[in-house]
Amino acid sequence: MSNLPAIHEYFDLTDFNTMGISVEARYFASVENVEQLQALLKDPQFKEVPKMMLGGGSNVLFVDDYEGLIIHLENSEYRVDKETENEVVITVGAGKNWHELVLECVEKEWSGIENLSLIPGSMGAAPIQNIGAYGVELEEVFVKLRAVDIVTGEIRVFNKEECLFGYRDSIFKKELKGKYIITDVTLRLNKNGEVNTSYRALSEKLDEKGITNPTIKQVSDAVTEIRQSKLPDPTEIGNTGSFFKNPIIDKVDFTKLQKKFPEIPHYPSGNRIKIPAAWLIDQCGWKGKRVGDAGVHKMQALVIVNYGGATGQDIWELAKKIQQSVTEHFGITLRPEVNVVGNV
Ligand code: EPU
Repeated sequence: MSNLPAIHEYFDLTDFNTMGISVEARYFASVENVEQLQALLKDPQFKEVPKMMLGGGSNVLFVDDYEGLIIHLENSEYRVDKETENEVVITVGAGKNWHELVLECVEKEWSGIENLSLIPGSMGAAPIQNIGAYGVELEEVFVKLRAVDIVTGEIRVFNKEECLFGYRDSIFKKELKGKYIITDVTLRLNKNGEVNTSYRALSEKLDEKGITNPTIKQVSDAVTEIRQSKLPDPTEIGNTGSFFKNPIIDKVDFTKLQKKFPEIPHYPSGNRIKIPAAWLIDQCGWKGKRVGDAGVHKMQALVIVNYGGATGQDIWELAKKIQQSVTEHFGITLRPEVNVVGNV
């Protein structure tokens, strides 16, 4: 009996990308397990068809219909591989909703990912851009992942070093982009109640609430509150979180820039300097601006929103204008954090 998943044709992707762009996929497959995925990749009908993995669709901008096969993984179980007094190692299906996993870990008092509360998307997408927020990045709890080669269907295990994690970056955004489908991810979490409150906005929020020794749940709740206060809820208004990465520049260039703009916020990043893209965009006057149904969020200048009817091209046109004015004002090129799919 064939182990192929159900395939839909001319499938509407509006509900499968948090920007809410109305585009179609020529084929769409909801895959429940690795065996189905391998059967699909080996099927002669799809051998020559371009393929793309889509998780929660929270980091993608479709600018055209997708003329290939979209693969959506539904495996969302997790298992405990190892548990000691101090730590627990779990393996999570790529289809697991990220925030649901965070909440389940918080409930069990396993720490390590509570600062990453409320990030939209799925487990399988998390390592691709090494998701990060409020002083924590996925790589800190990451052990290994399993992925399937999109051409041969063979399984390969990647350990942490092999993933080449960086700021919003990994090997899956570089030389292996589009070449593997991540099927499950193994994480190591802490059972000692250890939390990280080093990020200023987070420690300020906890102070404001009069919390001095926060529990894992209190950290998760504080992060959730901060995010809700400035990031739009994608179920209410289309967005993909930060649209651009925060640029990282050389110290020499930064010193020149600081002479011209003494108030420029900045953070060390290795021996270079990271500048908040939100500030650069804000200074150029974009915050809260709207062009048709595409706009810049009024609470966070780094977030581009779809007020309802924007096309992928509309969003991209706005992004290019923002990029252009930041280059003109500051001589810095903003790079998209989102994955732009289609002809631009
Ligand atoms: N700022 C402005 N105007 C704004 C917003 C911010 O000038 O409209 C300035 C302020 O100086 C502020 C600084 O930018 O202190 C940094 O802002 P924020 O703390 O909101 O963080 P961010 O650098 O804009 C990054 C991540 C977010 C993550 C937060 C918290 C990137 C590209 N973005 O944003 O991640 O939630 O830090 O850790 O690194 C995402 O990736 O989708 C995302 C939301």
